Order: sequence, then C-alpha cells, then structure tokens
Amino acid sequence: MKRYFIYIKRVWYYFLFGPMLMVLEACGEFILPYISANMINVGTAGRDIPYILKNGLLMAVISLAMLIFGVAGANFGTRGAAELAADIRLITFKKIQQFSFANIDSFSTGSLITRITNDVSQVQNFTQMFLRGLFRSPVMIIGAIVMSFKLEQGIGWIVFMILPFLAFIIAAIMVASAPRYTVMQQQIDGLNTRVKETVTNQKVIKSFVREEDEIEYFSRINGQLFEKSVRALKLMLLMQPLSTLIVNGATLAVVWFAGQRIMIGNMEIGTLTALITYLTQVLTALNFLANIILLGTRAAASNKRILEVLDAPVDLHDNGAGQKEAEILQGSIRFEGVSFGYYKQKKEKILKDIHLEIEAGQLVGIIGSSGSGKSTLVSLIPRLYDVDEGRICVDGIDVRQLSLKRLRESVAMVLQKNTLFSGTIEENLRWGNEEAGYQELVEACKLARADEFIKGFKKGYETRLEQGGANLSGGQQQRLCIARALLKKPRIIILDDSTSAVDTATDASIRRAFRERLVGVTKLIIAQRINSVIDADKIIVMDEGRIVGTGKHEELMASCEEYREIYFSQRDSEEERPGA
Ligand SMILES: Nc1ncnc2c1ncn2[C@@H]1O[C@H](COP(=O)(O)OP(=O)(O)OP(=O)(O)O)[C@@H](O)[C@H]1O
Ligand SMILES: [Mg+2]
Repeated sequence: MKRYFIYIKRVWYYFLFGPMLMVLEACGEFILPYISANMINVGTAGRDIPYILKNGLLMAVISLAMLIFGVAGANFGTRGAAELAADIRLITFKKIQQFSFANIDSFSTGSLITRITNDVSQVQNFTQMFLRGLFRSPVMIIGAIVMSFKLEQGIGWIVFMILPFLAFIIAAIMVASAPRYTVMQQQIDGLNTRVKETVTNQKVIKSFVREEDEIEYFSRINGQLFEKSVRALKLMLLMQPLSTLIVNGATLAVVWFAGQRIMIGNMEIGTLTALITYLTQVLTALNFLANIILLGTRAAASNKRILEVLDAPVDLHDNGAGQKEAEILQGSIRFEGVSFGYYKQKKEKILKDIHLEIEAGQLVGIIGSSGSGKSTLVSLIPRLYDVDEGRICVDGIDVRQLSLKRLRESVAMVLQKNTLFSGTIEENLRWGNEEAGYQELVEACKLARADEFIKGFKKGYETRLEQGGANLSGGQQQRLCIARALLKKPRIIILDDSTSAVDTATDASIRRAFRERLVGVTKLIIAQRINSVIDADKIIVMDEGRIVGTGKHEELMASCEEYREIYFSQRDSEEERPGA
C-alpha cells in the first residue's frame, strides 16, 4: 500500500474530507438516540410540550445536517476511489507499454487484462468503502458505547462485551479467505485469456468446426471459476448472520436486565429504547468495518498482482534517453557475432554466430526455409528483442546505446503478422506519421501500390476498417501496412514477407518503386520467392539459424548449394504448373 501514497497525494482532499464528513455524520447517529431518550423520559412522562417541541426541532436540524454530511462524504469517497483507480490503471498501462515482448510473454495477455481491469476494480471498491467507513465506524462504535455507559453503567458493559466476539469472527474469516481470493483471481486470468483467444480467432474456430469443443472447454473453466468464487465468497456471507446472532443475544440481555430495573423503578423506558438503538448501531458499524476488512483482504490479493506488473523489471533498457533525437541515422547495419534464443535457459540458439554487413541505401533480400530464423534476425534490429551474444550496430553504434525512440523511429518494420486497427484507412495510415499531410498519405500509398484500390472504394481514404482490417483482402491489408511504414520516413525499412498475398505483377512493381524512389533508404526484404529478391544488391541465405551465403544472384548460384536448391525447386514447381 505504501506506494499508493504517491498517487493519493494528487487527490489528497478526497482522502481528507471524505472520512471527515462521514465522522461528522456519525456524531449525529449517536446524539439522536440520547435526545430521544430524554424526550421520552422527561417530556412524555411530565407532559412537557415545549420541551418536546424544542428537542424535536433540534433532532430535525441534526438529521438534516447528517443528510448533507452523509451525501457529501459518500460522494467524496466515491470520487476519490475512482480517481485513484484511474491513476493506477494509467500507470499500469504505461508500464505495459514499456514491456519487452519477453515481459509480455511471461505474464500472458489475459492476465495483464485482468490485472488492469478486474484487479484495479477490487482496489477501487475497497478504497471507496475504506473512505466511507474507516473513521466513521470506529467513531460510531466508541460513541455508542460511551453513550450507553452514560445512560446506564451496568448495561453499557453488555454493549461493550460484544466487541471481542465480533473481532474474533472477523479475524477468523479474514485469515481463511485471503488465499482463496488469490486462487479466484488466477481463475479469472485463465478465463480472460481463453475469451480473448476465442473471440479474436473466430474464423479459425469456425473453419475447424470447433464451436462445440470451445463451448465445452469454456463451460469447464467457467464452472471452475464459479466454484472458486463461491469458495472465497461464502466465508464472507457467514459474517452477517453470525454478528446478528451475537447482537441479538446482547439485546436479549439488555432487555432482561433493563426490564428488571424498570419494574423496580430504577430506570425509564426511554433509556431502554436508546440502549437498543445503540446496540443496533454497534452492529451496523461493526458489519461495515468487517466488510472493509474483508474487501481489504481481497484488494490486497489484487494489489499484489498489480504490483507484480509495476515492479517487473523491463528487460529492455533505453540507454540513450538523453541523446539528441534530431541526428538522423544513415542506415548502415552490422551484425558482429550475434547469437540469440527466445528461451534464455535453452543452450541451443535460434540464431548462431551471425556476421553481416549492410551498407546504407542497399536493397537486401533475405531468403531461407521456413523456421530458419529470418524474422528473428530482422526483429533484433529495432530491438524487439536483445541479442544474447555479440552486437548489432546501426551507423557503427551498438543499437543498445541508441535511444529506443530514435532507433525505432528510424527503423520501419512491416511484420509478417501485421495488424490494422478499427478506424478509417486514413487514421490507420497516420499511425506511421501523425503530422503527414493528405498528399503525403497519397504518395506513400502510391509507392505501396495501395492508392489504386483505396481510390476504388466509395469513401476512399475515409473508408472504415473493421477490427484487424477484416473487410480488406489479405493483399490489400499488406499494401496498407507497407504504406503505413513508409509514412514514418524511415532510414531502414524491413518487409517481412509483406507481399506474400500480393500478385506477382504488383509485387514486382512495388519492388521497382522501392528501388527507384527510396534511394537513400536501406531496404531489407524477406521473401519466399527467389524472384522477389533476384535483383537485390545483396541476397542473404539462411538455414537453421546461420547465414550460409551472401552475394548477388549470380554469385550465389555459383557458390551456394542451399541457394541453388531453393532456386531449382521453385523453378521446377513453376514448370509443373504452367501459367502459374
Ligand atoms: N516468439 C517466439 N518464441 C519462441 N520461439 C520462437 C518465437 N518466434 C519464433 N520462434 C522460433 O524461432 C525459430 C525461427 O523462427 P522465425 O520466425 O525467425 O523463422 P522464419 O525464418 O521467419 O520462418 P518463416 O519463413 O516461416 O516466417 C523457429 O524455430 C520458431 O519456432
Ligand atoms: Mg518469418
């Protein structure tokens, strides 16, 4: 909880005035029965009408003030808790944005979603109750007990005696339920991960006719969540009946002793009514306090999960934060003895001892069988992951020494599995560059051969895309992603198999445009077809995480066995399918 004080500081007035107003309201709660007891004892017994009127008016004024304090206090509590929750969500979100891919993999997306929504809500619920009842409940309990003693010492003890009993029950429930909440939140993680996967991959599920299995699986984990929730929450339900039982017992004792005194004329009826009201107040206040403590137990479990995110060490450090952003990179790339693996504990690496030299402005093709490490190789350049051994230099500077912002602004990468977002085409393009003018958008789209099909839409650049660009064809999505990358005006552009769904003629025309128009820009093109890279300045051939050949097409044909294999297998398969 300690670190939340930093955030509480911003909204301190809610945290000060909220509880204060609630305490003022509570004062009224225990003054009222006292006045009413006097009214019954003195006023009614002596038929003193002016006394009754005077005190009645006083009670009305106090009630009105209580209403105002109560509403204002509750309002402060609700707002304070909501603001705190909003702040926590924001810092958690910011932290997730800093996460490396390795960080995200270690939490799972579903769990991150639960933590930033459900877990923060638990903290918010608790804070709200806490602000409303933290001081109010103890003040009410102490007040009611003091007033009981004031009215009738002997019976005040009975009111006092219920405290240890209830404290014991609360403590027992708290200790028992705390671990159950953690289990419950973990169950919610699992459910969220599944929902996210199922909803985003509906097409796959439909095409494999897996709906029934998915429903079955879901109902199973949903059932588990149900069981774990009941297990955690049912203890809390015990609280109310148990405390009512104790207070009812106490009421019985009060009526028993008070009745005897009233009969011998030692006590008056009004005092008895007031005492019973105080007992009820102690019960209500204690129940509220118990709720706060139990919600707190639950919030503590959630809080721990939020802090796990906030405290997770980001394993990708931005070392060059202080650098001059203005200095534009030239775009030469050098790999020096690079090795890399996704799982650090595994000895076998995905990339092994890579040496590579790319000059600024070159067009470089990368080719190799599926799983040979092509995507992995290029993802190291903008530091989506960090190398395990060796180093990668851009303009002769180790990428780990460059500011991340500067590096990633200079390197545009069209990922193999790229996504568009819901919004218009124009909005999607502006992800590449917020400030680009309309003409720039059109230019980039022309270069990526996207302009033609966009113009074909009735609304042109205003056309709305559904989530993930679902209402575009695969090839259209790819060309839009290329245009978006071009708008960044990068020094290095990487296309990871980004024209796989585009027809050969358009593919060739995009490459020609790249060569002619992006003269100073370093271009890395990963492709499956040799034809896509045949005229590159340099072709890199990868096999099982190693570079097995570099050079121009003719050189590789002469020297590289793996390259020749790919070349002939592609030529053969094309001969088998004439016209393909
Ligand atoms: N995020 C990841 N976590 C763990 N392993 C991964 C991850 N991404 C890729 N791999 C593994 O790394 C190896 C190389 O994958 P990579 O994606 O670089 O191949 P590729 O050459 O791009 O293949 P393709 O032509 O099919 O795109 C594969 O064996 C794959 O299983
Ligand atoms: Mg790949």
